[in-house]
Amino acid sequence: MDKGTPKAIRLQDYRPPAHLIDTVDLQFELGEEVTTVRSTLGIRRNPDRPDAAGLPLTLDGQRLDLVSVALDGTPVAPDRYTVTADHLTVDQVPECFSLETVVRIKPQENTALEGLYKSSGNFCTQCEAEGFRKITYFIDRPDVMARYATTITAEKARYPVLLSNGNLVASGEHEDGRHWARWEDPFPKPCYLFALVAGNLRHAEDHFRTFSGREVTLRIYVEPGNEDKVDHAMRSLKKSMRWDEEVYGLEYDLDIFNIVAVGDFNMGAMENKSLNVFNTKYILAKPETATDNDFLGIESVVAHEYFHNWTGNRVTCRDWFQLSLKEGLTVFRDQEFSSDMNSRAVKRIADVQGLRTVQFQEDAGAMAHPVRPDSYVEINNFYTPTVYNKGAEVIRMIHTLLGPEGFRKGMDLYFQRHDGQAVTCDDFVAAMADASGVDLSQFQLWYRQAGTPDLSVATAYDEAARTYRLTIRQTVPPTPGQPDKQPMHIPVVVGLLGPDGADLPLRLTGEAAPAGTSRLLHVRKAEEVFEFVDVPARPVPSILRGFSAPVKVKADVSDADLTFLMANDSDAFNRWEAGQILGGRILLGLVADQQAGRLLDLPQSYVDAVGAVLRDADADPAFAAQALVLPTEAYLGTQMDVVDPEAIHTVREFARKTLAARLRPDWLATYRRHAGNQSFSVEADAIGRRALKNLCLAYLMALEDEEALSLCLGQYHGATAMTDVIASLQFLSNSNAPQRDEVLAGFYERWKGEPLVVDKWFGVQAMSYRPDALERVTELLKHPAFEIRNPNKVYALIGGFANGNPVRFHDATGSGYRFLADQVLRLDPMNPQVAARMMGPFSRLRRYDAARQALMKAQLERIVATPGLSPDVFEVASKSLE
Ligand code: PHE
Ligand code: ZN
Repeated sequence: MDKGTPKAIRLQDYRPPAHLIDTVDLQFELGEEVTTVRSTLGIRRNPDRPDAAGLPLTLDGQRLDLVSVALDGTPVAPDRYTVTADHLTVDQVPECFSLETVVRIKPQENTALEGLYKSSGNFCTQCEAEGFRKITYFIDRPDVMARYATTITAEKARYPVLLSNGNLVASGEHEDGRHWARWEDPFPKPCYLFALVAGNLRHAEDHFRTFSGREVTLRIYVEPGNEDKVDHAMRSLKKSMRWDEEVYGLEYDLDIFNIVAVGDFNMGAMENKSLNVFNTKYILAKPETATDNDFLGIESVVAHEYFHNWTGNRVTCRDWFQLSLKEGLTVFRDQEFSSDMNSRAVKRIADVQGLRTVQFQEDAGAMAHPVRPDSYVEINNFYTPTVYNKGAEVIRMIHTLLGPEGFRKGMDLYFQRHDGQAVTCDDFVAAMADASGVDLSQFQLWYRQAGTPDLSVATAYDEAARTYRLTIRQTVPPTPGQPDKQPMHIPVVVGLLGPDGADLPLRLTGEAAPAGTSRLLHVRKAEEVFEFVDVPARPVPSILRGFSAPVKVKADVSDADLTFLMANDSDAFNRWEAGQILGGRILLGLVADQQAGRLLDLPQSYVDAVGAVLRDADADPAFAAQALVLPTEAYLGTQMDVVDPEAIHTVREFARKTLAARLRPDWLATYRRHAGNQSFSVEADAIGRRALKNLCLAYLMALEDEEALSLCLGQYHGATAMTDVIASLQFLSNSNAPQRDEVLAGFYERWKGEPLVVDKWFGVQAMSYRPDALERVTELLKHPAFEIRNPNKVYALIGGFANGNPVRFHDATGSGYRFLADQVLRLDPMNPQVAARMMGPFSRLRRYDAARQALMKAQLERIVATPGLSPDVFEVASKSLE
C-alpha cells in the first residue's frame, strides 16, 4: 500500500449517514476519449443524525476529475470544498439543497471492471459494492436510497442501444450523429443498484403477464452473433417470475425487465433494478456450446438475479456487513427454485458438495469469517461462500425450524415491515421469529460465530428396555479473532431404519404416541441426549437428513450400517451421504497406508457396495451419477489434520482404477445403455442419463485401455452436445493417449470463435493431473486466446490450476505457488478484485505440512512486500500470514 496499511471497517462503528439523498439526476456524455458525468443531487440533513447540523457534506469519489461544483445553482467557492483521493467535502451546507457536480472519467482505461467500463467496445457499469463512487461523487452506501433519472448521450452508430434503470421516458437525436435517451426509475434505490449500458447490441424479446395482469416486456441483450443462444435464459426468466408469484406471492413491479450479457465481468451477474447485467457465461447457451452444468447454472443465476428484485432491491441492506441478508436469502431462494424445476435430491447433493469443499475450506482458513462479518478491509473480499452459501444454509435452517408455512408467514411479515427500507440480518430474524412464535435468539449465533461446528454422535441400543439413545455433542472450532465459541442451536433431522430397511415410527421419551419417521432434534447445549422408546430391534440411524445443518458429523455408525443406508435410506440425500462417508473412511485409511509405505488394497466389500449402486443405476440415473463419484480430493483434504495432496491424489486414482477394473463389465454395459443417440433435452432426466454415461466413461478411461480409448475418441468425434464433447476431452486430456495433443488442437480450431468454449478448453488443460500441467498452463498464458484482462479467462486457466488441480498446484517444489504469486502480482494493478479472488489457496496454508507452509509463506511475503499493492490483495495476503 502506498498510503500505509489499509484500515479495517467495523460493524460496531456503524452510524446512519449525516445526509440523505432523495433524488439523483445524471447526465452521461459518453465519449471515446473522455466521458462527462453531470450529477444533480437533492440532498437533506438526516433527521436521525441530530448532530449533522454542524457537519460538512462528505461525498465519496475515486479517480474522478472534478470539473465543477454548484450548490442550489451557484458555483461553490474553491475555499468551501476539499477534494482528496477518496472524497469531496463541502462546508456550511444548508439543511436542504441541491448539489451539482460535473466530473470527467475514462471508462476505456478501466481494467478493474468496477464503475463505468468498456467490454467489447460497449459501455457498461458495475456498481456493487462501491463502484458508483468511481462514476460520480455520491454518498456511496446502501442506506442512502434515492430516485434516479438518467440521461445518456452517445454516438448513435457505435452505441445504438442506450439503457438504464426503470422506464424509458424520452429519447431523441442530435444533428452531429449523437443520440440520447432518458430513463426514470420510480423506485428509490441505493446507488449500488444503478446501471447504464450503451452499445451495439441485439435483443430477444418476450412477455410475461403477472398475476395481477401487468404485461411485462422482457429483453435479453447480447452482442451480434449471439442471438441464437438466449432461449434458455429467457425461459428461465419466465419460470422464475412465475415461481416467485406462486411460492412467495411476489410480483414484478415494472413494465420492463432487461438483461444485458457482457463478456468482461468480475462476477456471475448483477441484480441492478430492471437492468440486470450478466457475465455471458450465465446467459449464452445452446447444446452445441454449453454443458448441462452451464444450462443449470444459467437457470439458477437468472433466477437468483430476478429474485433479488424483492430480496435485495425492494428490501436492501443497511450496510455491507449485512450482505448475507440479501445473498444468503436469495441463494436459498434460487436453490429452492432449481429444486422445484429439476431433481430436488440431486440439487441438494450438488449444493452440499459445493458447500463442503469450498465453504468448509474457507471456514478452516485464515479468511474464515461469520455469515455477518464484523470487520473488513475491502468489502469485495467478502462476496464469499460463507456469506452466500453458508448464509443460504442459515436461511434453510430457519425454514426447517419454522416449517414451510411459518417461513412463508415470516417472509410476508418481513416485506410488510421493511419494503422500501435498508435493514439488517437482525430485522430479518425478528420478522421470522415474530411471525412464527419460534424463539430464534440462540439461533442468531449462526450469524455471529465463524467456523464449521463439529457434531459427534454416539448411539446406544438397550435391548431389554427397547430404547435407542443418541448422544450428540457439539464443538465450534476457534477461528481468527474468535478463540472461544458458544454452543449453537443446531437442527438435526434424524430417522431410524428397522432391519427391513423401512423407517421406524419415532417416539421420544415422554411422548404419548409416535409422530412421523423423520424427527427434528434441537441441539442447543454442548451435549444433548435423545432417547427413542419402543424400538423393537437395534435400528440403523440416519443422521442429519437432507443435511439439515452445515456441520461436520462424526457418528459411530459401522461400515456395514453405512452400506445398509446406501441401499435403504428413504432420505435420498443420506443415501448418497452414506456412500460418501464410507468412501471417505476407506480412502482416508488408504491415505494412511500410502503415507506409511504400505501396499494399497481396496476392500472387496466396498467394491461390492459400489457395484450394487451401479447395477441399480437405471432406477435414478441422475442420483447414481452422484452416488458413484468418490469423495473429491478437496473434500478428503478437509477431513485430514494435515492435508497431503499427493497421497490423496494417488489413493483416489488407485481407488478409481480398482473400481474400474473390478466392475468393468458393469461400467461398460451402463455406458452402452445410455450412450444411444437420444435427442437433446435439458430435462433433469436427460441430464442425469448423460451424467451417468460420462461417469462410466470416466471410470473406463481410468484404465486407459484400447477399448476405453476407442469409446472415448468415438464419443469425442461423434457427440454434438458439449456435455459429451467436453467430458471426453477432459478424459483424453488426463490421459497419455497418442491422440491427445491432436484432439486438443482440433478442439481449439473448431471452437476458437466461441470465447466461452475456449474457456472450457483452458480449464480442461489447467485441471489435467498429468505431471506436465503447470508447464502447459505456463505456455497457455501466451496463447493468443488468453487475455489476462478478461476474468473468465483468468478463472478458467489460472483459477482452474490453483483451485481445480490440487496435486499439481501443491507440487512439493513450490512451483505452483510461485506461479500463482506471479499471476496475482501481474493481475493486481489491473484488476484487484480478480487478483484477490485467486489467493484462496494461500489463505489455507496452515492446513498443509511445514515444508509447503514455508513455501507458501515465502510467496505471500513476496506479495505483501510489493509496493502499490491493492487493499484487496493486501487484506488476503496479510491475514494469511498472521
Ligand atoms: N450481487 C451479485 C449477486 O449475487 C454479485 C455481485 C457482487 C456482482 C459484486 C458484481 C459485484 O447476484
Ligand atoms: Zn446475489
